[in-house]
Amino acid sequence: MSGELSPIDKAKFVAAKRAAAFVEDGMRVGLGTGSTAAWLVRCLGEMVRDDGLRIRGVPTSTRTAVLAREVGIEVISLDEARWLDITIDGADEFDGDLNLIKGGGGAHLQEKIVATASDQMIVITDASKEVETLGAFPLPIEVIPFGWQTTRALVEETLVSMDVLGRDISLRMNGDAPFITDEGNHILDLNLKRIGNPRQLAMVINQMPGVVENGLFIDICDTVVIGHGDGKVEV
Ligand code: 5RP
Repeated sequence: MSGELSPIDKAKFVAAKRAAAFVEDGMRVGLGTGSTAAWLVRCLGEMVRDDGLRIRGVPTSTRTAVLAREVGIEVISLDEARWLDITIDGADEFDGDLNLIKGGGGAHLQEKIVATASDQMIVITDASKEVETLGAFPLPIEVIPFGWQTTRALVEETLVSMDVLGRDISLRMNGDAPFITDEGNHILDLNLKRIGNPRQLAMVINQMPGVVENGLFIDICDTVVIGHGDGKVEV
């Protein structure tokens, strides 16, 4: 499956492969979204096919659901599963406290619901996502389409009142049209540069009307598995 990979794909693959070893027979598994999580889904599919692993997967996006079915993983909804043994997902940034920015792929709403309903969340990543302070990667906020410009103005005013330095907020686009999430919402990307107090920011943002969920994952991730281009893995 891994063939001749670029160093970045090799790093993602080896992280996914190592994390797949945490998955045991009979588990209900949250399946993340993104290019790294896609490697995980393929690894699990191989284990289902070749080793007889029996798992039920709860995907965090339509595209992960399609891939999971393609590779032979039994897919169930979160409400069918109710609670999960493990969720494995990628991230856009992680810090030393294992706090994350997610949502680069626009799936952080379902990803956060699924990870929160799991005994443990494992993040799989390459080393480039590790940061001292979160915020270089734009923070995604999922907002409902109704009045999104008013919501954006409210987010901006709040950032000013909190003395947050970067206040560049853009509506995520898909070509000429706004990007639409699996839940039918829009995404605002906040280019903050540096998030001094991610816990406080996450709480404040989620209190605003029109905001559905922000991409900060605070105290949700338990373990980070870091893959490297030379095939080494750190847990
Ligand atoms: C999707 C996510 C992804 O996990 C995150 O964007 C990382 O993606 P990739 O593995 O492709 O770098 O949060 O909403």
